[in-house]
Amino acid sequence: MAKASAPGKLILFGEHFVVNGLPAIAAAVEGRTVAEVRRADRYSLVDDRPETPGYKKEKRDQQADSIGLMFRAMRLDETKVGISLGGDLVAASGVGASGASCAAIAAAANAEFRLGLDREMVNEIAYEGEKGYHGTPSGIDNSCSTYGGFILFRKGASGGESKITPMGSKAKLTIVVGNTGITSNTTKVVEDVKRLREGDPMKFRRISDEYLRIAEDAEKAMSGNDLPEIGRLMNVNHALLREIGVSCSEIEEMVGAALNAGALGAKLTGTGRGGLMIALVTDGTKDRVASAIAKKGYRTEITGIGAEGVKVL
Ligand code: MEV
Repeated sequence: MAKASAPGKLILFGEHFVVNGLPAIAAAVEGRTVAEVRRADRYSLVDDRPETPGYKKEKRDQQADSIGLMFRAMRLDETKVGISLGGDLVAASGVGASGASCAAIAAAANAEFRLGLDREMVNEIAYEGEKGYHGTPSGIDNSCSTYGGFILFRKGASGGESKITPMGSKAKLTIVVGNTGITSNTTKVVEDVKRLREGDPMKFRRISDEYLRIAEDAEKAMSGNDLPEIGRLMNVNHALLREIGVSCSEIEEMVGAALNAGALGAKLTGTGRGGLMIALVTDGTKDRVASAIAKKGYRTEITGIGAEGVKVL
């Protein structure tokens, strides 16, 4: 039996834009998924991860596809393994729950079957697994869960290799996470954005150009630990995400509450249309911001970011 753990992630800048090859910045969170893989006579899966109600049921078929894809990519017989999932990462849309479990399962299988895969190859297997959850993942989620810390991610053009740059960011960021409680369908939301891009290419080009300037400024602001500037850029990024139609009333309510309570910036994170929002806070504002969101009836969590990537336990 072998065990591995991997962190969830939060996208600070660039969800959706990353699918079209623009750079995005993500960070690993403190919550982790633990996967245990053992040899067995027949396939079994026990999923004890804590969850946003309904998440695991909603994703069950995709999870089965994902595990099949990973074991086939590792040339292992998935009918002869027992897998258990646990850990303290709450499985929810937006936190990279699928990417974390793919990275943890790939690393645990690598250890149990002594495949000798290096970190890059574990990430490739995890990426195969992500395809089970949604057809055309950019790869940012599994990469962040695999490498940990802060990453600057750029998807490779037409199937080419993606560029993953560890940022070694000096930024000490404390984040309040607000959870809509809604499990979003990444495939559908990504398709809707594609439809918008194809239906109104001029508008999409203008928004993408604006986003690119934000991404460049964000990289600088993060290396200089310029918290007010990072917050401001998060707000601008959120406005662009709203323009491409991936926000929702619950996210807007939480973003408004967070900014009114003194957050430096707030935006949706991940797929949107449900899932999570994040607010950048300081030690002085974190409790006030979290309780302003909680007062609206949403679950909140305060987390540090930049945690360690996948590791065998
Ligand atoms: C999902 O966490 C992030 C998206 O940009 C999709 C992807 O990158 O594959 C919405």
